[in-house]
Amino acid sequence: MLCARPSRSPRFSEGGEDDDYDESKTRKTNLCSFPVRPLPNNNNITKSLFLPLTILTIVIVLIIIIVMFRNNLVCITQSDHLNLLRMDGSNSDFGSLGVPCCRSKLGQTVEWTTKDLIMGLEEFIPIYETRPIKNNVFGMGFDHSFGLWFIARWLKPDLMIESGAFKGHSTWVLRQAMPEMQIISLSPRHPKKYLKKGAAYVDENCTYFAGKDFIDFGSVDWKSVMKKHGILDLSRVLVFFDDHQNELKRLKQALKAGFQHLVFEDNYDSGTGDHYSLRQICDQSYIRGGGHSCFRDSDEARARMERKKFWEKAVDIEELCGEGDSWWGVRGEMRDDFNHSNKEISHAEHFQNSRFVESVLDVYWELPPVAPSSLTHQTRYDPARAPDPIIEDGRFDLFKRLGLTNFETSVFNGYTQMVYLKISPTAP
Ligand SMILES: C[S@@+](CC[C@H](N)C(=O)[O-])C[C@H]1O[C@@H](n2cnc3c(N)ncnc32)[C@H](O)[C@@H]1O
Ligand SMILES: *[C@@H]1O[C@H](CO)[C@@H](O)[C@H](O)[C@H]1NC(C)=O
Ligand SMILES: *[C@@H]1O[C@H](CO)[C@@H](O)[C@H](O)[C@H]1NC(C)=O
Repeated sequence: MLCARPSRSPRFSEGGEDDDYDESKTRKTNLCSFPVRPLPNNNNITKSLFLPLTILTIVIVLIIIIVMFRNNLVCITQSDHLNLLRMDGSNSDFGSLGVPCCRSKLGQTVEWTTKDLIMGLEEFIPIYETRPIKNNVFGMGFDHSFGLWFIARWLKPDLMIESGAFKGHSTWVLRQAMPEMQIISLSPRHPKKYLKKGAAYVDENCTYFAGKDFIDFGSVDWKSVMKKHGILDLSRVLVFFDDHQNELKRLKQALKAGFQHLVFEDNYDSGTGDHYSLRQICDQSYIRGGGHSCFRDSDEARARMERKKFWEKAVDIEELCGEGDSWWGVRGEMRDDFNHSNKEISHAEHFQNSRFVESVLDVYWELPPVAPSSLTHQTRYDPARAPDPIIEDGRFDLFKRLGLTNFETSVFNGYTQMVYLKISPTAP
């Protein structure tokens, strides 16, 4: 494939040892295509206007092509020209940089396959239609609800713990996955408080550490709570975090208690979000797609600027980089507790954090989006920064058959790379 200029900066091709690490987590390296709006068609013009308008159109198209070549946005190749019309952008210059992901020690991955996920969708969609909380702005949308349900159902834990309940939607999701299992929910405000204002879910068989009984996850005496709930084997417990706390802090607290199956809802990309996330922690220069150049005239800077036009949550190089070209975390900050705390950290400390995380992980698995934006019409997250969707591009038949056309676009907006971690039983 020919490009006007190499679209990967030397920095990204230096990856060396990890260049082909876990291809399933990184984008397919189809370079040189970029989303371009299709041109309007001219069916209705009269014959007398045909020739002048055709010439005008050709001139305009030529100007557009010249401008785009000058900006290095397009590389025409024989097989690739159709991709220029794709809005989705998964095969874009930007995506070809790859996205960082945490490496697990032994290269283990999850047991489930895409086929299992599609079968799960088939089962979950009618359940999701019966959700008690239809308006869950600030809470989970469809993708993550499915992910949590699927993981809980696959693992079949003896106990599920959630931190961050809001109106109780995720409690309801866990309950759908395991109708008779115990749930512990920690949240400063009891979900029943929301009942006064509208829909909320309070589970009859859930132990709430909420309202006046609230205790932060890190302060709970888990040994005695586990005993009370008859849990002898901590590998039978699933912990779900949706409390916008520093995920390194939560991971250390979970390790201390001995939990081994963790799900983090908001696994924000570098430069975004209100707490230090696993994705951010593992964003390192030695990982494909990781580490960033703050150089304002780089390929990455150009790609980011372009992506920002299409995706609301995409960040450009100015937003990514703070003082002293600090790109890690959010502009060199380690955010915690809904951004109430945002401590600057050094690059060395950030690097050590990823080494620590990788040393305790057996599995790091990011939930893919359910479907591409060409089908869901979501415009918030940049698909080039996410794994390939479960339903492939172009499979409108499947999307429709599953009943996904019945949902409003807004339920697909909340995707933030939810991640499942399996902690090594031998972790310190
Ligand atoms: C994004 S909402 C959770 C959404 C919910 N999981 C759902 O499915 O819709 C975050 C919640 O975390 C709660 N929260 C704040 N600090 C917390 C803490 N230290 N521990 C647990 N929850 C906390 C907030 O009160 C809020 O209800
Ligand atoms: C409540 O949880 C207990 C313990 O898991 C279980 O035995 C019981 O069947 C549950 N009750 C209901 C109504 O689901
Ligand atoms: C987070 O806090 C910092 C410092 O207080 C502030 O500059 C920034 O705008 C905040 N960001 C968000 C998204 O709230």
